[in-house]
Amino acid sequence: MSTKTAKKPIVELYGIKKSLGGKVILDGIDLTIYEGETFVIIGQSGVGKSVTLKIIIGLMEPDEGEVYIMGENMTNASENQWTEKRKHFGMLFQGGALFDSLTVGQNILFSLDHIRHELTEDEKIDKILHSLEIVGLPDTEDIMPAELSGGMMKRVALARAIVASPEIVLFDEPTTGLDPIMTANINELIVSVKEKIKTTYIVVTHDIKSAKYVSDRIGMVYKGKLVFLGTAKELENSKDPLIRQFIEGNSQGPITEEYMQAIERIKRHETVAKNR
Ligand SMILES: Nc1ncnc2c1ncn2[C@@H]1O[C@H](COP(=O)(O)OP(=O)(O)OP(=O)(O)O)[C@@H](O)[C@H]1O
Ligand SMILES: [Mg+2]
Repeated sequence: MSTKTAKKPIVELYGIKKSLGGKVILDGIDLTIYEGETFVIIGQSGVGKSVTLKIIIGLMEPDEGEVYIMGENMTNASENQWTEKRKHFGMLFQGGALFDSLTVGQNILFSLDHIRHELTEDEKIDKILHSLEIVGLPDTEDIMPAELSGGMMKRVALARAIVASPEIVLFDEPTTGLDPIMTANINELIVSVKEKIKTTYIVVTHDIKSAKYVSDRIGMVYKGKLVFLGTAKELENSKDPLIRQFIEGNSQGPITEEYMQAIERIKRHETVAKNR
């Protein structure tokens, strides 16, 4: 008998298509994320990474395709069903903004109150203090956000995302805008929080180093499709020129060629128009 336990899907996307502002952004995304893994979505700026997260959390509706969250078909779910479902999510938004006028503790309480009204005041305080300990910021609950550095703010935003013990934690660009040392620091934090709180993490980033560091698996989005799905090691060993250009950050390659061809087309179009 096999002792291997079956992986349980927690997020399933089937044939997701989404156009925005007259442009096809997602063009048939199929993706299954499993319970307990850290899945990282990578891709260039504007490729639809945040849009994908918004579809997973029900803040945006796909034009086509199906979304299953924790085994439940959410494709035609009502706003009320999504509101209930979102209580199982913790979210670290791109920017990770805190409320300036609230203390660190109040910022975290705001999120906790919203999801876990049944807790007593003491239970809430315990959870807030515990979440701050997990992110390495004990005894900071009375500090105002203005007194924190950028990296510390990210930590508080992470404490806020995990305080209600969510089944799925989403990170949208957790290291954008941080210096390299702070970036390494936040990457380590994500890994250490994961060791303490074993839940499912979905991280969106265009920082390939972060992706390799924190991921169990990586998916790369390009031109509306998932063009790579595998481990950091498999990504590293990929021979696909498209993937090589992205991971090596080369200015020359298939990704740039697309742009060059588009520029050529525009130039030709302009010449034709001028000569008319
Ligand atoms: N509400 C919207 N209305 C119109 N266009 C939108 C909307 N939201 C996103 N877009 C467009 O969809 C595309 C994908 O956006 P998205 O924010 O998902 O990109 P991203 O991959 O997260 O990029 P970045 O790395 O810069 O955050 C972009 O071209 C963006 O301009
Ligand atoms: Mg984004």
